[in-house]
Amino acid sequence: MSQQITVIRGDGIGPEIMSATLKVLDALGAGLSYDEQHAGVAAREAVGQLLPEETLASIERNRVALKAPLTTPVGGGFKSLNVALRKHFDLYANVRPAISFKGTRSRYEDVDLITVRENTEGAYLGEGAYTAPDGSRAESKMVVTRSGCERVVRFAFDLARKNGRRKVTSVHKANILKDVTGMFLEVSRDVASEYDDIEFNDMIVDNACMQLVMRPEQFDVIVTTNLFGDIISDLCAGLVGGLGLAPGANIGKNAAMFEAVHGSAPDIAGKGIANPCALLLAAAQMLDHLDQHDNASRLRKTIAEVIEQADRTTPDLGGNGTTESFTDAICERLVR
Ligand SMILES: NC(=O)c1ccc[n+]([C@@H]2O[C@H](COP(=O)([O-])OP(=O)(O)OC[C@H]3O[C@@H](n4cnc5c(N)ncnc54)[C@H](O)[C@@H]3O)[C@@H](O)[C@H]2O)c1
Repeated sequence: MSQQITVIRGDGIGPEIMSATLKVLDALGAGLSYDEQHAGVAAREAVGQLLPEETLASIERNRVALKAPLTTPVGGGFKSLNVALRKHFDLYANVRPAISFKGTRSRYEDVDLITVRENTEGAYLGEGAYTAPDGSRAESKMVVTRSGCERVVRFAFDLARKNGRRKVTSVHKANILKDVTGMFLEVSRDVASEYDDIEFNDMIVDNACMQLVMRPEQFDVIVTTNLFGDIISDLCAGLVGGLGLAPGANIGKNAAMFEAVHGSAPDIAGKGIANPCALLLAAAQMLDHLDQHDNASRLRKTIAEVIEQADRTTPDLGGNGTTESFTDAICERLVR
């Protein structure tokens, strides 16, 4: 029986990169069936709701979702549906690898690191958001819990161990935000003491950003709080050739959702030039999650070969190709 997953095509370039990804998964013979559901601005247009109950029920049923980007308005308007989905399913660990591919115009050739971002707490949620009626003041709360810190730090150490990685770096701002990110650091140190086989260090977030740009090879697994992880993982995407190559897995106890790190890219939507690789690499993370490790490796290897060959890749990677030519190049190699 084929494994059913929930598929959300999303907004902007979402439908373009999702079509590409499903085509590749089929060429790979992953044996998946797709329970297509709506979310985002596209959902509001189709069914009058941003996040329909049926979408939540589908993820609950299938426990695995592949999701294209969803638009969140800047400033006012509705709150992030990505945050809502992560909260609803308690997808507490956001795993974002940044790995160099040969043939990209990036600053480094051998970056290989993973950011594990806490995904359900902290400043990123914008809890208790309030703007004074006269517009003179705005506020929002930053709350973390010991249990929330502990489970994500433990996740990062377990991930390091499982993947033969040698080091975990906890990134924080405990010199200034002594309580909130101080708790994250304290918990990191406690958990680290249980993993003798994994090296541990900590770094203040501003220094970590500089160190990542100057000497990324010193990092292996980074674990950090929600907002810092959001920013750092985009920085890491920049180290390896841009957002078009950055996937993310949102993992919880009862469900997992796989997506690109990038957004709906309205500036290139509909032009046929979106790079499908971030969502494809997220699909590879999903295949690993489904214990299809051979298919996951084959997919990653094929993507790497097509990127290295370069003639059919999208403009963000320096190619003259389109989403379609990139996708076809991958599919052709897979069925050879
Ligand atoms: N997980 C998500 O669904 C998610 C993540 C980030 C942003 N967003 C939303 O996306 C919208 C747009 O945000 P933004 O413009 O800040 O970020 P973005 O990631 O959509 O785009 C940033 C830049 O990267 C380029 N880019 C992104 N993905 C690309 C791809 N696959 N191929 C080629 N180029 C690509 C875009 O063209 C743009 O120049 C906002 O509404 C934001 O809230 C959603």
